[in-house]
Amino acid sequence: MGRFDGKVVLVTGGSRNTGLAIVERFVREGAKVFMCGSTEESTANGAAALKARGVEGVVSQPCDISDMAQVTALFETIGRDAGRLDILVNNAANQGLGHGGPLEMDAARFHDVFNVNVIGGFQVTQMACNQFFMRQESRGVVVFLSSNTAMRAIRNRTAYCASKGAINSMVRSLALDLAPLGIRVNCCAPGYIYTERWDVLDPATAARRRLNCPLRKEAKGSDIASVVAFLASDDSANMTGEIVTCDAGCSCQHMPEDVDV
Ligand SMILES: NC(=O)c1ccc[n+]([C@@H]2O[C@H](COP(=O)([O-])OP(=O)(O)OC[C@H]3O[C@@H](n4cnc5c(N)ncnc54)[C@H](OP(=O)(O)O)[C@@H]3O)[C@@H](O)[C@H]2O)c1
Repeated sequence: MGRFDGKVVLVTGGSRNTGLAIVERFVREGAKVFMCGSTEESTANGAAALKARGVEGVVSQPCDISDMAQVTALFETIGRDAGRLDILVNNAANQGLGHGGPLEMDAARFHDVFNVNVIGGFQVTQMACNQFFMRQESRGVVVFLSSNTAMRAIRNRTAYCASKGAINSMVRSLALDLAPLGIRVNCCAPGYIYTERWDVLDPATAARRRLNCPLRKEAKGSDIASVVAFLASDDSANMTGEIVTCDAGCSCQHMPEDVDV
């Protein structure tokens, strides 16, 4: 018997990397899972990748979460196919890469990052609550993905870091307002996660990154999926408004060992 037997889950940004691992975890633990990427192509690729891993039964539909019409269409599909929703995982993110430093970045790109990471996450959550959770006796659970960069900045990622800080604040605010309604809202804040973006790193850079981590390793997608599943399950039934960091100890250190002189 699985922890999520009979549960219906939506994972945004389930088409790549960490999202795939989160989808896989919920399916393997018994849930019916819906997932989206931002485009038809990426969503189809994600669906194929899940099949290749032996993960069956996932309903995939492209949805740019910054576009309300596409969000509405996705929720119509969930209503038609499952008739309920129990768990929402707000994993989709615009990484805000390649914007340059804060003096030269185009403000329009700042808006793009916030439209996906903050406003997109908000509108998907609002729709999950109004369309499903508030109409169900057992209500529902929301898990956001933020980042340890909400607390400790990385270089030339102003919009991304700011968006993750906004997510942490939004999680606490949503948790406070939704707690009396029986809806829990929590957040996992990862540090380094192994993704396809590591594949292009030269070995010395990958090794240096690992040296930044007290545990000497980045998270696997499955490590993050474990935290997300905990926050989505009754194992965390008395938690709401929490930001759970999963970063190999990066946030507890002042400096990496090799520069701590
Ligand atoms: N990777 C890390 O080291 C790291 C560290 C800390 C926190 N995080 C956070 O953990 C989560 C997963 O990270 P990741 O590295 O696995 O992410 P990723 O590889 O960048 O994948 C992002 C996912 O979000 C989707 N997405 C992007 N824009 C979207 C939009 N407008 N509408 C719907 N979906 C959209 C992407 O779909 P497409 O395939 O269509 O683009 C993709 O499925 C993110 O929230 C990220 O910020 C990651």
